Amino acid sequence: MHPPVSGPVNASSAESRLLAIESSCDETAAAVIDLTGTLLANIVSSQVEIHAPYGGVVPELAARRHVETIDGVVRRALDTASCTWQDIRAIATTQGPGLAGALLVGLNYGKACAYALQVPLLLVNHLHGHMASAWMGAPDFPKDAVVLVVSGGHTHLYRVAGPTRHRLLGRTLDDAAGEAFDKAAKLLELGYPGGPMIDQLAKQGRPTTLRFPRSLGRRDSLDFSFSGLKTALLYYLRDHPQWNTPELIADLAASYQEAIVDVLVTKALRAVRQEGVSALAVVGGVSANSRLRARLAAEASTHGIRLSMPPMALCTDNAAMIAAAGLEAYRNGTFGTWDAESAADLTMPDASLPSTTRATVSLSPVR
Ligand code: KG4
Ligand code: ZN
Repeated sequence: MHPPVSGPVNASSAESRLLAIESSCDETAAAVIDLTGTLLANIVSSQVEIHAPYGGVVPELAARRHVETIDGVVRRALDTASCTWQDIRAIATTQGPGLAGALLVGLNYGKACAYALQVPLLLVNHLHGHMASAWMGAPDFPKDAVVLVVSGGHTHLYRVAGPTRHRLLGRTLDDAAGEAFDKAAKLLELGYPGGPMIDQLAKQGRPTTLRFPRSLGRRDSLDFSFSGLKTALLYYLRDHPQWNTPELIADLAASYQEAIVDVLVTKALRAVRQEGVSALAVVGGVSANSRLRARLAAEASTHGIRLSMPPMALCTDNAAMIAAAGLEAYRNGTFGTWDAESAADLTMPDASLPSTTRATVSLSPVR
């Protein structure tokens, strides 16, 4: 059976609503936007306290908690947006990538609601959601840009022509940047999730105490590698058994964070220069990092780059970004079918975008 409508639709009504659901990892989230794109509700129920004792996300526990909370989270989103099921014209849900069991919950909940309401089902790639967040706080951000998606599972650089048209420029060859933060926090016995803890601790530390390795690759490489960094920290702790003092931990956090930030900033600017664009967006959980935000803001101002980083609430996983990407699909009339399945390793095929136009923008030298 097919969804009720297909083909581009008139999506201008401010009275009609789109409900979005996100459950790809350890946040159960629902959001409501109107069909002009105004955000009316953004509810996130975090599972941090469930996974913290294990030092990381336990997939089976995540899926079970999604089952328990999704209904309440959706109802809170509808209440907050002051709307009822009858106002919902379409339902967007994350199809992948993410944890298989966790994805199943949101997709099937969304599918059931869309079927019951007989409204279109919009299947959103989680990365398209993160990308769409670049335009949420900045609707006039140029469509032609470089986007760095930097989260717990991804460190990917894209050339984009809008939130759903992109070409991959480079990616991590091993750990994602968020994963590098989380693994360091585990080694330093700081708990989970690691990124925010290291961010906080680093504010009291000195970033120059230790020179952690920066894997920058060849001069033109846009790929990343963070596994050596984690190993360097592991060896340092092994060789310095007295590392566990508040002062040294803060210094280690600051030095480690600085190495990650250095690499992310260097490669993002490299991509902007190589692609000849003048706009850069940095999205995903790690874009909440205060040092990364400060460094990027300074570099963007020095080099005359238009920079977009989502408001903090839209950096880590949320359903508002899924709503924004879903609205694009709604406007294009790209609807999911009732037999759609979630996909833990869902990929995003490259669009045919203009190929690299090197150095059409002149930046002052960067590494
Ligand atoms: O986008 P996200 O919520 O989920 C994924 O799609 O992976 O990103 C989660 C990641 C985690 O690795 C977390 O440690 C990291 O984002 N993160 C941070 C900060 N806040 C979250 N990393 C560094 N600094 C932060 N302030
Ligand atoms: Zn994410």
